[in-house]
Amino acid sequence: MDKLLITGGRPLEGEVRVSGAKNAALPIMCAALLTAKPLVLTNVPSLADVSTAASLLGQMGASVERGDDGRMTLQAARIASRLAPYDLVKTMRASVLVLGPLLARFGEAQVSLPGGCAIGARPVDQHIKGLQAMGATITIERGYMNARVERLRGARIVLDLVTVTGTENLMMAATLAEGTTVLENAAREPEVVDLANCLIAMGARIEGVGSDVIRVEGVRSLGEASYHIMPDRIETGTFLAAAAAAGGRIRLLGVLPETLDATLAKLRESGAAIVTGKDRIDIEMAERPAAVSVRTAPYPGFATDMQAQSMALATVANGTAMITETIFENRMMHALEMQRLGADITIQGTSAVVRGVEKLQGAKVMATDLRASAGLVVAGLVARGETLVDRIYHLDRGYEALEKKLGALGARIRRVK
Ligand code: UD1
Repeated sequence: MDKLLITGGRPLEGEVRVSGAKNAALPIMCAALLTAKPLVLTNVPSLADVSTAASLLGQMGASVERGDDGRMTLQAARIASRLAPYDLVKTMRASVLVLGPLLARFGEAQVSLPGGCAIGARPVDQHIKGLQAMGATITIERGYMNARVERLRGARIVLDLVTVTGTENLMMAATLAEGTTVLENAAREPEVVDLANCLIAMGARIEGVGSDVIRVEGVRSLGEASYHIMPDRIETGTFLAAAAAAGGRIRLLGVLPETLDATLAKLRESGAAIVTGKDRIDIEMAERPAAVSVRTAPYPGFATDMQAQSMALATVANGTAMITETIFENRMMHALEMQRLGADITIQGTSAVVRGVEKLQGAKVMATDLRASAGLVVAGLVARGETLVDRIYHLDRGYEALEKKLGALGARIRRVK
């Protein structure tokens, strides 16, 4: 199994181009199920999760062609199977995003329940509740959701909590429903907006995306479209956190700075000098970072997917920071691994009190989930000596060529068997 070997303690310098957003690419790929016509995507990142989504669609009978430079053409002209099997859903929970599109276009879908995962319970009750409100009958049998409907009809749905994939599933389903759907307490994440823009390019009628009330007027069918996936704000934030923790000066290209307000504010508070352009961000950290507390929240709040990286930064900061996780109940596993590097962290429920230390020391650590891995890499870049990060298959799910990009920034990092 691959591991990452990092020899830390060196500042970062140089420039790197950020990839297309994983969390936009996955729902947008599933949107291809809404039409028999082709969907041509560009800026699709090369990631294990994208390959999983491609297999899922391929297994259903859709054609998936991948070209150079992140080009991908999807066409679900005929769909032989309306099934998302457990094996794929358990490796990638976002597979549940086929539920809404399949049900809307074909009136039936069979999707495995995702079950629990390393960071918490992650139920899909809101997806189910919303589709039921739109007229679907959903039964749970042998671990599968069996959904059926003649034709979905528009409904007013108030989500109990803010769910990103829940909003996406219901928004996709509503595009082909009869009448108008209003989603209240909808997620405002930029990836939801990106998906909506792609759906609109396919002919959907959607208003209010980016706010917490989304209004979708159903249409009979959607057509062909070309769409460019937005840049990955979490990958961007991970490089920024790495530069803030390790010090140095880097430039990130192909980014969307306005999707990173909360992260940029926290990094500035920690002492980083940041200049943003239309599609670039320059960051310089010339001193030891100051301790900065964060509390995760739905967008535009501080992203839970940046929590581990912000904790890594806090481990070497001057002062004490409080890191509070409000989205997932068990997303602090990386704290225990960071302690192995010499970090001073006390966990109190879903908060971590992080007392910054002068230096971390390299050690063997184990990744428990995608963003935890990213946090450990950031910590490894700062730690003196060698850090070996095990189980980096988590990292490969969501970061394209991370070690190459960090290597280009002067980090000593390589993949080992
Ligand atoms: C998405 C992101 C993930 C990110 C998360 C929160 C994708 C593919 N993944 O995951 O990277 O960490 O948003 O920003 O976009 N919940 C329920 N019932 C539901 C649905 C969710 O109780 O039906 C709860 C979850 O357990 C969690 C919270 O709502 O506590 C938010 O989860 P949600 O926004 O749905 O996360 P995902 O969409 O799975």
